[in-house]
Amino acid sequence: MKSLKKIIDLPKIADPRGNLTFIEGQKHIPFDVKRVYYLYDVPSGASRGGHAHIKLQQAVIALSGSFEFILDDGLGHREKVFLNSPSKALLIDNSTWREMENFSSGAVCLVLASEPFEESDYIRDFDAFVQYVQKAAQAGR
Ligand code: TYD
Repeated sequence: MKSLKKIIDLPKIADPRGNLTFIEGQKHIPFDVKRVYYLYDVPSGASRGGHAHIKLQQAVIALSGSFEFILDDGLGHREKVFLNSPSKALLIDNSTWREMENFSSGAVCLVLASEPFEESDYIRDFDAFVQYVQKAAQAGR
């Protein structure tokens, strides 16, 4: 069973003046970045996500603080990933259900996305996602 926890070690230029990390599309992450967004001021106890994407791939970085991603392939495999390093990116493939929780105070979650925003790319119902994945598996996609 393939792991959903795909962590990329990003380049880090360590310097006494402060560290620097950079990301180039198609080089450090496997897609061109078409959109960037970030979550911040997340109240304690809040959970976000609760959806999958048909086409979208994402790379997620804890720029500050920490949070957890729960990833689910819709085929019975669920994994929890703790992110707390600005020099690591979690890659989330399309067709992966995600929930985010346990944001620390001051956490900033940066997301690099392979596509512009498109509501029709979302699957926001978990049962519909499971059906979608099963259909895709049967069709050999
Ligand atoms: P959503 O992706 O559901 O948030 P999360 O998964 O982080 O909990 O998006 C929340 C709202 O923001 C939703 O109404 C769509 C809107 N939105 C945009 O308009 N553009 C974007 O790039 C994103 C990510 C969300």
